[in-house]
Amino acid sequence: MNRPTYITTPIYYVNDAPHIGHVFSTLLADMAARLAHLEGHATFLLTGTDEHSTKVTEAAHANGLPVAQWADNKSSAFKSAFQHFNIHFDDFIRTSEARHKAHVTRRIEQLITTGDVYLGEYSGWYDAGQEEYIPELKAKQYNYISPINKKPLIQRSESNYFFRLSHYQAPLLALLEQAELHIQPPSRSAEIVARIKEGLNDIPISRRSSETWGIPIPGDEAHIVYVWIDALFNYLTVVDNDELRGFWPADTHVVGKDILWFHAVIWPALLMALQKVEGNQWLALPKRILAHGFWIREGEKMSKSLGNFVGMADLEHYCEQFGVDGTRFYLASAGPVGANDSDFAHARFIESYNANLANTVGNCFNRVVGMVKRYFDGQVPAAALQPSAFDQEIAQLSDAAREKGNACQFDRMIAHALAIFRTIDQYVNHTEPYRLIKQPENRQHVGEILYACLSALRLGALALWPVMPASMEALLRSLGCLQDSAAPSPYATCAKVPSGFELADLGPLFPRYVETALCTEDSPQP
Ligand code: ME8
Ligand code: MG
Repeated sequence: MNRPTYITTPIYYVNDAPHIGHVFSTLLADMAARLAHLEGHATFLLTGTDEHSTKVTEAAHANGLPVAQWADNKSSAFKSAFQHFNIHFDDFIRTSEARHKAHVTRRIEQLITTGDVYLGEYSGWYDAGQEEYIPELKAKQYNYISPINKKPLIQRSESNYFFRLSHYQAPLLALLEQAELHIQPPSRSAEIVARIKEGLNDIPISRRSSETWGIPIPGDEAHIVYVWIDALFNYLTVVDNDELRGFWPADTHVVGKDILWFHAVIWPALLMALQKVEGNQWLALPKRILAHGFWIREGEKMSKSLGNFVGMADLEHYCEQFGVDGTRFYLASAGPVGANDSDFAHARFIESYNANLANTVGNCFNRVVGMVKRYFDGQVPAAALQPSAFDQEIAQLSDAAREKGNACQFDRMIAHALAIFRTIDQYVNHTEPYRLIKQPENRQHVGEILYACLSALRLGALALWPVMPASMEALLRSLGCLQDSAAPSPYATCAKVPSGFELADLGPLFPRYVETALCTEDSPQP
């Protein structure tokens, strides 16, 4: 078995309901884990909820519920949203759990011992919406307005515990510049490096609180661990035990661009500080951070004030019309995987579904299977003895899709996967099995053409399995490449299409969508 692979998502604030952004980050992590599975790695995917935020207590109070109960409700909503999207997570952490509180307490104790956490005085700018302290230089650049939520930054002055971030400037620069910690996309890495070079100050990591919601600083209960520090430790809480320690360090932390700084700078620095403690040498640094862009909706930024989030009700509506997989496909192929933001636009969704899933994947599959049914009674014919140029072209596309997928370039991965289906179609047009079959002496040759097509469909289905697991499993099962087990075996051991297998009926795969609701008087009459 190859090296175990650990993939994480951000843990989500439970002040509000899940929306497209949360589903998207978690979906990317699910795809990364499925890709690692196909490469033969044991995988562990962690997601969960971040609960000790003042935003959470405020929301609970505003809704007249005890915080714990409010957090229970909202946390379940996140969990079921991810389950609805067929996201396979191995654990779901809640920062309010005892295991997490005990872990954070122990880590802060260790950081106090090394001198990396100390008591001091903070006075400066604070972004209340993001719960983030902003250094003077940054605050000035921002014009004292939060770049995220556009609210004024506030002045804060309090006695705090600090983390000695200033000590880690040189090792952090080395880590990023030598790409030992690889940030995807690379343009974001350059931003972080430039900001580190501006200088790093020690950062406050506690707040004073009358609330009991949160994790107290060990030995000084009037201070609560700042929510961001509490939250980052979630990645370690879950695997810090004999059973799962082998998954450490994280291979990929999936995050949105808004929280990259915490993951690329503060988190590695905390780990470097912890490495100094006897017995912590195993705490290696994360290998990769995937920092994706943001969804906007129909050309507009999504915000509370506009009330235009693509929420779960919207997404479930799309799932009903286009399937969970049809919806996953749009999010994965049109989403902000790279540095740019993406527009969630209804018209683009339909256009993409029809062009890529109905016309490309669905049609190609139905066409090939239809010919096997007509000419060979639905039995998989025998393969040619030698691989053809077509087989090689498909193998190259499959390799290219794998390479892009493993580099977290999911949009490129999907483009190569779709090219597999288009290449099959061209091959059929070019070899004309439907004409050849009219001469009985061509029967074996036609069988070989169709076997090559079925075999290529198998590679196409494997390439799209991380994106659309349920329908690609059905496709693979119908070809005889997948028996009882739910997930396909890794590429190296995954069954080939068995000659003689009777193709199972799959029903229509990705039927074309015609939008009736949009008919106007200009539409042609039936
Ligand atoms: O920041 N488009 O939690 P959060 C794409 N608890 N992704 C989006 C998005 C959008 N419009 N809006 C949000 C927190 N996201 C902290 C994280 S991790 C140790 C703690 C996604 O509930 C994106 O991944 O505000 C972003 O980073 C995350 O949701 C923020 O979720
Ligand atoms: Mg946020």
